[in-house]
Amino acid sequence: MVSSLRLWSVIIGLVALVPVGIRVATWRDPKPEPVDPAMAGAGQTLFIHEWTPKDPLANGGDGLGPVFNARSCVACHNQPGPGGSGGLGHNVTTFVVKEKDGEPAREGVVHAFALNPKLQETLAQVDPRLPNDVRPSLSRVLPGSNHCLPFPQNVHLSQRNTPALYGANLIDAIPDRVIIANEKTQRMKHGLASPEQETMPVGRALRLPGGRVGKFGWKAQSPGLGEFVQAACANELGLGNPDHPQPRPLGQPDYADCGMDLSLEQCNQLTAFVAALPRPVERLPVESAARDQALAGKAVFNKIGCADCHTPHVGDVDGIYSDLLLHPMGEVLVGGGSYNEPPLNLPKFKPGEGPVASEWRTPPLWGVADSAPYMHDGRAATLEEAIKFHGGQAAAAAGRFAKLSKPEQRQLLGFLETLRAPDVETVAHR
Ligand code: HEC
Ligand code: HEC
Repeated sequence: MVSSLRLWSVIIGLVALVPVGIRVATWRDPKPEPVDPAMAGAGQTLFIHEWTPKDPLANGGDGLGPVFNARSCVACHNQPGPGGSGGLGHNVTTFVVKEKDGEPAREGVVHAFALNPKLQETLAQVDPRLPNDVRPSLSRVLPGSNHCLPFPQNVHLSQRNTPALYGANLIDAIPDRVIIANEKTQRMKHGLASPEQETMPVGRALRLPGGRVGKFGWKAQSPGLGEFVQAACANELGLGNPDHPQPRPLGQPDYADCGMDLSLEQCNQLTAFVAALPRPVERLPVESAARDQALAGKAVFNKIGCADCHTPHVGDVDGIYSDLLLHPMGEVLVGGGSYNEPPLNLPKFKPGEGPVASEWRTPPLWGVADSAPYMHDGRAATLEEAIKFHGGQAAAAAGRFAKLSKPEQRQLLGFLETLRAPDVETVAHR
């Protein structure tokens, strides 16, 4: 009796020594923490709130600005409802000015608005050889378009289009090691090809300073939803918070910081609202011929290599259609300028650093039928155009799409059309 008790305690002791959590987790990834509805409700109020100078919700801070890209989160994230994607009109303009040796010297955002006209940011403040333009349209900064500005050689401008935030909490809950495992799988699958090469769809996880993996943002520049939300409060609305001071106007780098506008609690409420947004859905047509078309299209999507990067699953998250890895996408899709400090765009690929100007995180395609326009700057009005713009590591897949018969192309597009935003309250902006 005594000895069997002792045996049991040894067994229990041994079991406790085995890292059970780790072993189990490789099979089943943790689900996101449940979101507190009261926090999400308070966050919704902040998300749709139109911020003003010295806003009553800004805890005695200066509120909106001094420079900003819009007056509310929902001004940009509104298709088809609050938390969704946004049109070209709210694109954010980024810049890089390089020194002679090619290293990024200055980079950042040219904000669309300023409270005081004297603080309005213009392209001329990026480089005096550029015109005094405010809020340049995409065609002004898109190389190859008729209206593109002649950039000085060491200056690069690009834009970012607003992505939808549906399902962001599921992405947030994906452990870093699952994304790193994706990276390894892709390398193995393609004969240990390097992510630097542009011939194979072999991406890389972005290791951020501090060791975490980048998951959010067109360049995977942010490791978590909470971090991104705090950056957005500062960068987009000029709301300083514990993680991010409000940006200083380009023309007045010594602008006095007047304290915080948002408490950590308010930032957490905003994050809770975003985390509570439902995930996108796959809605197959009811009519059977159309349904068969869409299902056939999904098979074509896999067959021609779209799913190499737009992987249907990541860990436990189904139907995401992204590997969350960075891929070099070719000269045409080059876009420099970091949205965040520290400077992220390196002139040359260095393992473990980056991203370089042509690298983009595979965007999840869930909800894609409701999030036009497409690509990092919204240059593609339709899904078909988006596919045509794929270069670099995706050139081969795009080439195979171009060679499909018209009916097969329609099948693939029919499949993408089933990837819908969740049913949310639609807002008037649409
Ligand atoms: C001026 C338009 C604009 C406003 C206002 C705005 N956003 Fe965004 N949002 C964007 C753009 C553009 C991106 C993509 C930026 C990038 O990746 O470089 C983005 C990305 C995000 C992401 C990351 C999504 C992903 O999957 O990568 C989150 C989260 C987010 N915004 C939350 C917010 C919150 C919260 C607010 C309000 C505090 C806000 N945004 C205000 C334009 C806007
Ligand atoms: C090598 C990886 C890779 C392959 C292969 C690939 N894509 Fe992409 N895809 C990306 C990246 C990265 C972007 C974003 C590029 C940018 O914004 O400049 C993207 C963007 C898209 C977009 C726009 C999404 C949005 O929200 O703007 C669609 C649609 C799309 N891909 C569909 C496809 C289809 C269909 C195929 C197969 C023909 C395919 N992709 C093959 C990596 C890939």
